[in-house]
Parts: sequence; C-alpha cells; structure tokens
Amino acid sequence: MAHAPPVANAPKLLDLAKLTPFVDALPRPALAKPVGVRPSPADRKTQIPFYRIPIREFYGKIHRDVQATRFWGYGNSMPGPTIEARSREPILVEWQNQLPTKHFLPIDQNLMGAEKDKPEVRTVVHVHGAKVPPGSDGYPEDWYVPGQAKTYYYPNQQDATMLWYHDHAMGINRLNVCAGMLGLYTIRDTFEENLNLPKGECEIPLVLTDRMIRADGQIYYPVSARPGAPWLPEYEGEAVLVNGTLTPYLEVQARKYRFRVLNGANGRFYFLTLGNGQTFHQIGSDQGLLAMPVEAKRLTIAPGERVDLVVDFSDHEGEEVVMKDHALSILQFRVAKAKVEDPASLPRTLRQVARVVESAAIRTRRLTLEEIDYLTGEPDVHLLNGKRWHEPVTENPVLDSTEIWELMNLTDDTHPIHLHLVRFQILDRRPLNVGVYLYNNKLVYIGEASPPEAAEMGWKDTVRATPGACTRIIVNFSGYVGRYVWHCHILEHEDNEMMRPYDVIAG
Ligand code: C2O
Ligand code: CU
Ligand code: CU
Repeated sequence: MAHAPPVANAPKLLDLAKLTPFVDALPRPALAKPVGVRPSPADRKTQIPFYRIPIREFYGKIHRDVQATRFWGYGNSMPGPTIEARSREPILVEWQNQLPTKHFLPIDQNLMGAEKDKPEVRTVVHVHGAKVPPGSDGYPEDWYVPGQAKTYYYPNQQDATMLWYHDHAMGINRLNVCAGMLGLYTIRDTFEENLNLPKGECEIPLVLTDRMIRADGQIYYPVSARPGAPWLPEYEGEAVLVNGTLTPYLEVQARKYRFRVLNGANGRFYFLTLGNGQTFHQIGSDQGLLAMPVEAKRLTIAPGERVDLVVDFSDHEGEEVVMKDHALSILQFRVAKAKVEDPASLPRTLRQVARVVESAAIRTRRLTLEEIDYLTGEPDVHLLNGKRWHEPVTENPVLDSTEIWELMNLTDDTHPIHLHLVRFQILDRRPLNVGVYLYNNKLVYIGEASPPEAAEMGWKDTVRATPGACTRIIVNFSGYVGRYVWHCHILEHEDNEMMRPYDVIAG
C-alpha cells in the first residue's frame, strides 16, 4: 500500500488565495528559429535546418505580484521555444548545456545513476513521441555536463501531432523537469492543414505544469525526513502554471479555437472542465488526430499525455469562461462582445485510424507494474516487470514486428506508461485479482474487459495503466534497431527504478 512518507521541514509557501487571479495575459512560447543549415546525417549532399538551443538558468515571472522565479530551461522561457517541424522534413538540433555546476533542487544520491561519483548537473534531451534513431533519442545515460553540447537528428518521419521535448537525465530527471526543462515540438503536415481547423492566432498551446512555490517566488521541491535520502514518491504543487503563468487570462473572439494541451507535470493528473459547462471537442491525442471529434465535458490528462481540442466560443460573446482543474480555476477566457465570421471548421470526420487487429501480434508480453513495500521504513519502490534498471534487458521486440504488452498494474495508483520510439493503440483494460497474482502469479480476472474510451481510440504513446487491472496495448516496433526505454511518466517513479531499457533487434 502506498503511504505518504514524512516530509522534512517545509518552508513557507506562497499564499495562492491572496493572489489576484487573471491579471497576466497567457504567454505563447516563442517559435525556435534555425540558425543555419547542415548536411543531413542520412544524406550528406542534402542540407537541412539546424537549430541551436541553449539550456540555461534564467528568471521568469509567473505572476504580476510574485517575485521572478529561477528556472533552468531551454532558451529563456518555461516552456522553452516551440520547434515547428514538417512531417518528413528532418532537422538537426544542437542542445547546449550552459547550466551552472551546482543543482538547486535536492539530489538523492541513492538513486540509480545519481550516485556520489556522478556530476550534480547533467542533462540530455528527449523528444517525447518522436521516432528517432537511438543515438538521438536522449537515452538517460547519455547525459552531458555544463559546457558540453550534443547535436541530435530528428527525421520527423511521422504524422502531424504535438510532441514535447524534456530532460531525461538518469536519476535527476524529476528535478530537471521541475526546474523548467521542457518545451513543445509540433509536427505539421498538409493533410491536417487541409482540414481547415482553427490556426494561427486561434491555435494555442497550453502547457500545464504545477509547482510548489515558496513565499519568495522560488520553486520548492520537498525532501523526505530520512537524512541523506531526500527522494519522495510524488511531487504535486498547488500552483498550476499554464505556459509558465499562474491563472493567466486569454482574450478570445466569439469563434472556434484549437488548444493543444500538454500535461507536463511531474506527477499530477489534470481533470479539466469549462466553468460554464460547455463541452470540449477532442480532435486528437498523443500521436495525432482521432478518427472523429469526441465531445466531452471533462478531460483526464495524465503526465506526458497530450490532448488536441477545439472549443467553440461563438455563443458566448462577452462572457468570461474559466478552465478548471477540479475546483481550481487555472485559466480565464475573455470572449469579445462582437460577433465574428468564423472561417475555421470542425469536420465531422478527421482521418482514418485503422484499428490494429490482435492477430497482427506475434508475441504477447505480460509485464507487471508493482510496488515493493519495505517494512523497514525504506521508501516504496515501483518496478516494471519486477526488474530494476541495471538488470539485463528483458523486452527485445524484433524490428517491424507487432506485440501485445499486457500491463498488469498490481499497485493502487494509475501509472502513465510511455514507450519511446513507437506509437501504439490501446486494446482494453480488465480488472484482475491482485491478491491472487501476488500470491502465486496466477492471473484471475474479476470482470469483463472494457474497451478504451472514445478519446483513447487514436494513436498513443502514453497509456494510463489503471490500478488492479491489466491494460493491453498493441505496438508495432517500426523505425530503428537499438536501445530505447519504457517507463512510468510520473517522474518520481521513473527516477526510482520504474524505467527499463528495451532493445529493438534486427529480424
Ligand atoms: Cu516524456 Cu521518456 O519521456
Ligand atoms: Cu518519450
Ligand atoms: Cu508510476
């Protein structure tokens, strides 16, 4: 059973109830611009766009009345500059580590990869949801120290969608991302452009990240009460930032908007509603458009997941509409009074999403998500397939083959499971008898399998593995041969053994 561990002496936090909401305009992350061209690694005669993005310390205002907050991030904003790529047009990005050499958040040297002999400040960048060769994927052990840089190659051989880049350094990933190391990476294609969805000023990214903020405006990351072992199993803050800002407002016209939402939190799940009871039209998920829009009053978004939405303000001239997470208002839309012509459409069908049939799979892997509960007062550790990071690879799919992964969640929590390199579909979820399974490895189902929600019927790269259930996904391992990882996207879990390497092997 998960139990909340004791937390050591917390400082005074910012009193959010005393801050005036909706005084800051919602910022939009800037677009990254290439600094030149370089020969393509795939074909030396072709020149492709070359970007250079520094990773550095900077200060940013999260609210008019709060002192500037120290961030570590990309460029000079959290989220960092958005990379806009076109499907099938490769780019190169040089990620420069210009960080200081001392970390400002509490490192736990007991964690894998963060031991005493490792430099405190390390980073490596992963583009979440991108199909890239292993050498450019940001393998957690491929970190590098301040003063160094790495150039990564992104082929963009995949459909239009919104990906995101973030730090992936072994053992300190949760701290680096909490410090601000994340940004968006949008892939566009003509198919999607021809749908005439809201665009330009009417297409707005919403990056959700919550933080604990101290009274002096600085990010707080709590530590456990165990001396020398600060790790805690989850991080969640009261301050929900949207594009790096606390309770911003956005002026909109009375027309349709497209919102591209990322849950970039360490561990918090968001449950979004609109204060006036209006519905969202969800048009896409992690890996692009759904087959058709799905209407919903409430959205659940786990860490790592993206949701592509259309919201129609056309009947709400002059209204103030808030977006809420549970009871908390996180963003205010101010709808203009004037009626406007809306040139954008919300098509009834979006694209073909062929369901992958189970018979396509040549192999099924049963993989547990479990919690090791030490009675000695040690923190609980979550494991994938009962294995720790450093144990030999156990998942080794053949390139271009299809497999079913049964994610048997024996814990009390939902774990958002993410696989690098691939996109997949969710087959179903089925409740099982956890006690029996833990006792003698026997799988006894205690209910019927339920199909994924309508909004989960598209292509995914992160799936909510619900507690006490077997969640089945079907995956085609196309792309590249080499070593990748799969892990829980609750970063505290990932940093403490809930991550495993996997190999795509040649057939
Ligand atoms: Cu969002 Cu392994 O990453
Ligand atoms: Cu990823
Ligand atoms: Cu987890």
